[in-house]
Amino acid sequence: MTRSNLSWLNDGDLQALKSRVQKQELRSCHASFDAAIWQGAFKATKFDVYYLVVDDIIYLLPEFALQKQNVLRLAEHDNDMTKQSVKQFYDSFGWQQESGIFQDALDSEDLREVSRDYIEQCHARLKQHLPATGRYLLDVASGPIQYDAYLAYSENYHYRLCADISLRALQAAKQKLGAKGIYLLSDVTRLPLQTGKIDAAISLHTLYHVPKEQQLQGYTEIQRVLKPKGSSVVIYSWGRRALLMNVLMFPVKLWSLLKRLQRTKQTGQTLYFYAHSYEWYRRHIQRQYDCKLYSWRSVNVPFLKLFIHRKFGGRMLLKAFFWLENRFPQLMGRIGAYPLFVSTKP
Ligand SMILES: C[S@@+](CC[C@H](N)C(=O)[O-])C[C@H]1O[C@@H](n2cnc3c(N)ncnc32)[C@H](O)[C@@H]1O
Repeated sequence: MTRSNLSWLNDGDLQALKSRVQKQELRSCHASFDAAIWQGAFKATKFDVYYLVVDDIIYLLPEFALQKQNVLRLAEHDNDMTKQSVKQFYDSFGWQQESGIFQDALDSEDLREVSRDYIEQCHARLKQHLPATGRYLLDVASGPIQYDAYLAYSENYHYRLCADISLRALQAAKQKLGAKGIYLLSDVTRLPLQTGKIDAAISLHTLYHVPKEQQLQGYTEIQRVLKPKGSSVVIYSWGRRALLMNVLMFPVKLWSLLKRLQRTKQTGQTLYFYAHSYEWYRRHIQRQYDCKLYSWRSVNVPFLKLFIHRKFGGRMLLKAFFWLENRFPQLMGRIGAYPLFVSTKP
């Protein structure tokens, strides 16, 4: 929000901050925390603006910043209803657990045994595009690190920075990563990180939940924070434009529409989704960032659920898809459901 450096407050300055908040000289748009649970705070060096650390999570969203009333206008920039609805979806529903499984997975992944190997192999293929080791792996919109397979991405890094707008996501991520994690409650379109400090960045299934006109800004932010020679791997979706899925699944379109309506009815929850076209990717991302396209997964969950069954050779069919994705990564990335955008900073 301020684009200024942050400095850590010493004990004396922290006490002074507490007393200013008590006198209501400073406040946040959001209900303030009880000062007894503050672990510390950062100050935006050129502003009278402060960010709290509570329960190892650094609250870097504008609405949580402590500031004078007249500065609160800065937060209005972020008063984006779409973004707020996505945050609300994950805080109140997506990252709730049912028998140890997150609603997000129950809702949007195929958790059946028959698809398991294929899905695991797709998770694993992401790592080949990351530098083997490094100090900081940035996980943009990390969620709660919901699958164990995700842990492998940071195993040779000192720290994994988890940045997400959902508090619930970061609380759950902390359970998984403990002290290896650095938890930033923040927005991908304004990453609260200095330019050129991050060894590698991943962002899985996130950009298409960012308002469509801000997705490029999110991608640009990821590139900005990378070190020279640092790499980023982003999983995107072609959504309804995925050629392969449109050809193979014409009858399922109706089914998926019904399913979505049904889900809205059951939970009252809808989640913003917008997938840009391949042309958008070519014009704004490929050319500007010398980005390479690969296939993460060429088939989507409705396809898996309809066509992949143990008794009908489902496993073999998925092996064939996996082979095709490895043999023709650019083509399958282009026509399949989920492409990988891979860039290395010059
Ligand atoms: C589909 S989930 C993916 C989570 C995780 N990357 C995964 O693959 O399991 C999308 C995540 O993006 C986060 N998110 C959405 N918009 C965001 C934004 N503007 N800034 C930061 N995080 C955002 C949500 O809170 C949610 O945790």
